[in-house]
Amino acid sequence: MKLAQTEFECLMSPEALAVPEGYKGLYAFHKYWGKKPAEPVAYLISHLCPKDGLVVDPFLGSGVSAIEALRLGRRVVGIDLNPAAVRLTRMLVKPPSKKSVEKSLSYINGAVREAIDATYRTSSGKTATHYIWQGEKMKNVWRTNGSARTRIEDFPDDHDLKMAAELADYRPRQLRTPRFFTNSRINSKASFDLRSLFTGRALHNIELLLKAIGELPQSSREPMLLSLTAAIGQMSSMVFTITGRGKMNTTKSNKIEVGSWVIGFWKPDVHFEVNVWNCFERRVKKLIKALAGSPEVVDSTLGSISDVCASVADGAIVNGNCVAELQSIPDDSADLIITDPPHGDRIPYLELSELWNIVLDEQPVFESEIVVSNAKERAKTPKEYNESMRQFLRVAGRKLKKAGHLVLFFNARTGSSWQFFDVFSKTASAAGIGFQGCFPLIYSAGSVVQDNRAGALQSDFGLVFSRSAYVNQRLLDIPNWSSIMPQPSL
Ligand SMILES: C[S@@+](CC[C@H](N)C(=O)[O-])C[C@H]1O[C@@H](n2cnc3c(N)ncnc32)[C@H](O)[C@@H]1O
Repeated sequence: MKLAQTEFECLMSPEALAVPEGYKGLYAFHKYWGKKPAEPVAYLISHLCPKDGLVVDPFLGSGVSAIEALRLGRRVVGIDLNPAAVRLTRMLVKPPSKKSVEKSLSYINGAVREAIDATYRTSSGKTATHYIWQGEKMKNVWRTNGSARTRIEDFPDDHDLKMAAELADYRPRQLRTPRFFTNSRINSKASFDLRSLFTGRALHNIELLLKAIGELPQSSREPMLLSLTAAIGQMSSMVFTITGRGKMNTTKSNKIEVGSWVIGFWKPDVHFEVNVWNCFERRVKKLIKALAGSPEVVDSTLGSISDVCASVADGAIVNGNCVAELQSIPDDSADLIITDPPHGDRIPYLELSELWNIVLDEQPVFESEIVVSNAKERAKTPKEYNESMRQFLRVAGRKLKKAGHLVLFFNARTGSSWQFFDVFSKTASAAGIGFQGCFPLIYSAGSVVQDNRAGALQSDFGLVFSRSAYVNQRLLDIPNWSSIMPQPSL
């Protein structure tokens, strides 16, 4: 496994934790919910796990810990219930070559771009880039002025309305039916289908992309499918409009700008329909750019959990319920368990990832998600959440070496979501694991999906536990390190 040492020396300074840079390169490719900054993860891995030691992340998400562990020459087991998270991480830890992604894009361009663009053709023969809809009424059509890239805004003519109407009733043939729940938190309803969230034209064009991706050699499909998941929100009718924003801080403009899609399944009254090809191509080009710039650090072998534990493979990225999957790691074998579990009712990952899993033709096991959800049909109560987290901590504690550490990135709005930590106060059941201290996890502006509700907590903590009473000096160096457990309000 190759290491780009110089890059990691600077990531490892404790000050770097206080000023995370935001997501760059491959980390910026996908907007996985609740992504954590790489700096604290890299710092903790480099100081709490020796080279070739074993790092475990049971709630892996988009794979920040796996990527950092492999880059730093540690072995890693990453587990997540969300198939989209696992497939994304597998690609990020063994990224495709820039050339192969360019070749795939070029094939898809030749296969379907004209057919997609034809559905957005205006009466002038140009291709529309965006439509603004108010409810069911088309209000505006945007196109670019050829190579000058100036935006031209028109009112829709009969031709534009006819084009939209032609595919309005399109029913998906390939994309499976979504499984949504009645969840006021994210404005979703159990009765939603894909046509509640996309125009017929968008669904038609997404299926054209899927067909072309399916014609690629098997080994080239994954980066394209994952690019489609990364772009799917922007292809939906959930993209809101922004007004009143001037180019300078002091100026105000009445111009409408394109917002991003909203976190939650709702269709703003005034919303965009964006050209599906443009959304897809932009995402693939972002991947190509990241691949061009990313250092050649990951040259790791992936295998099963037992391969990693026997040091036959560098990493295992496993799809499943972590409480069950952790059992296959031998007791007393992990140097560091570093993880970011769902924080009470902060984000229901599987619900929000359903569109990504539909693109990937995966069926997430909603029943096993550890989360507090507003969706009544899911019966994910705080009581059940605490019981599952207790169970997780009991199993995780047994997997740690005698001098091993457990780091949880955590915060929750209500005290009821902190109750599972009582496991650690019952020494017998927690295999003698004690709290060492915590530090505030600082996010760069706009880097993380934050909780905006009243009373929501704006930052998370890195909570460090260990079986040993000795506190590593490198932990004490972390800015604002505290040996007192945060006291949530009840
Ligand atoms: C806060 S996110 C992790 C985000 C991650 N730190 C990152 O940087 O992208 C929590 C993750 O826990 C996963 N999860 C929820 N219940 C799980 C379970 N029972 N077993 C494994 N993973 C689970 C969710 O799918 C989600 O990806």
